[in-house]
Amino acid sequence: MKLPPKPKDPNWLFNLKFQTDPFGQMDYIYKHYGDIVTIMSDSQPIIYISNPQGIKQLFSNTKEITSPGILNESFAMGTGEQGVLQLDGLRHKHRRKLLMTSFQSARTKAFGQRICEITDKVMSQQSIKKPFIAYEIIEEIALRIGIEIVIGLSEGERYDEIKYLFSSLMKYEQSPIISLLLQLPFVKQDLGKWSPQRHLLNLYQRIFQLLYSEVYERRKKPDSSYSDTLSTLIFAPDETGKALSDEEVRDLLLSPIFAAQHASAAAITWSLYWIHYLPEVRDKLIEELNILGESPDPMSIATLPYLNNVCNEALRIYPTQLFTFPRLVESPIEVMGYELDPGTILIGNIYSTHQRSDIYPEPKQFKPERFDEKQYSSFEFLPFGGGARNCIGATFALFEMKLVLATILSRYQLELVNKQPERPKFGGLISYPASGVKMAIHGQRKRKEELPAVVSSLL
Ligand code: HEM
Repeated sequence: MKLPPKPKDPNWLFNLKFQTDPFGQMDYIYKHYGDIVTIMSDSQPIIYISNPQGIKQLFSNTKEITSPGILNESFAMGTGEQGVLQLDGLRHKHRRKLLMTSFQSARTKAFGQRICEITDKVMSQQSIKKPFIAYEIIEEIALRIGIEIVIGLSEGERYDEIKYLFSSLMKYEQSPIISLLLQLPFVKQDLGKWSPQRHLLNLYQRIFQLLYSEVYERRKKPDSSYSDTLSTLIFAPDETGKALSDEEVRDLLLSPIFAAQHASAAAITWSLYWIHYLPEVRDKLIEELNILGESPDPMSIATLPYLNNVCNEALRIYPTQLFTFPRLVESPIEVMGYELDPGTILIGNIYSTHQRSDIYPEPKQFKPERFDEKQYSSFEFLPFGGGARNCIGATFALFEMKLVLATILSRYQLELVNKQPERPKFGGLISYPASGVKMAIHGQRKRKEELPAVVSSLL
């Protein structure tokens, strides 16, 4: 089998370049090797595709190209062995449907209101003029929303501990020293009480225990007033008509919480950055929001066209998940002129597809209006992947992005503390703004009811 072109750098150098400048390295590879390339992972060749025709095959030729859970094994520590990422076949389809139902049903006016309240609550804790790291604040908002929608908890001891543990995990995994240490194979082993791996295992173990207790107790005292993912899973039969086990329910809860916390937070922070980096974008957005008047209905916010374009453009220029999950060639297939044998691993390169200048003229420019000028196919614009493993939280994530951004913009005047362009950083699966984006509140946009009566009557 003839493989697509392979970069000449040895693996270690390739990895180093990718870790230090993932986006620059991908631009270089696209420019020099084209839109179907082979990258070695140890001795395993992996083919990355950034061509819409090739991506179409990846998502649509489901007989020849499958998406087995075993290929996502490296995420199993964090998502549980029976999490949706680890499943395939009928069971995968069935569990996806359950999770999607609960996320779709959260796109309501009532939950939209909760998203706005949570955003307001966290933002109101920031002091005027005191710089803060936007990613940390948005991560707190996204995590609160994630826990509420997935487990139905918004307060109490267990809620506080779960939130604390997920936050600690994120800080730990994103610590530059820890990620450097975890590159060394021996550090990845459990070396005893003080080792990074043991600390990580302990955090996961405690999260697993707490979620398990919640599942167990909720099942013992069923309460139909809950409408969260956990309740959906408890009452749902599996594909054979039997109830899901407590362990399975627990595992299925993990990836939605992580995704809500990490991917949504990164996407919202990138949007905030672009909105404040480009004053003309911010002004146009505020003008659009003002049309809705005070206390706008969340469902109206979700349909604002310019806000929609801004979110799409933020997800295009720096997609928070750079790649799809891996797919496997099951039976011989030709992809972009290459005859691929069974066993070949393929990945959709979301970032490089979004950077093609034949699809997106001036791809390095943040231009929300490009989404008005052209309709992109789902193989050209794919921030949420596609096919059998497309993101189950896609529509909810966009809904959440819009409401969080609209709440912040209509309540606060923010500014970037550093005016230099923000660099992206790759964190295993998700790409984040490298500095976290330092911002400060320099004023509040007052609501009519908060202004003195005389001012309010003039408006
Ligand atoms: C802006 C935010 C988000 C982005 C950019 C994003 C992006 C993605 C992408 C690119 C994939 C891989 C698709 C593929 O391989 O074809 C994915 C899968 C997934 N996402 Fe998201 N996601 C986001 C938010 C969420 C949220 C809020 C949830 C919560 C439910 C979620 C849950 C998942 C799950 C469970 C999968 C794996 C699906 C499977 O294995 O079948 N994501 N996401």
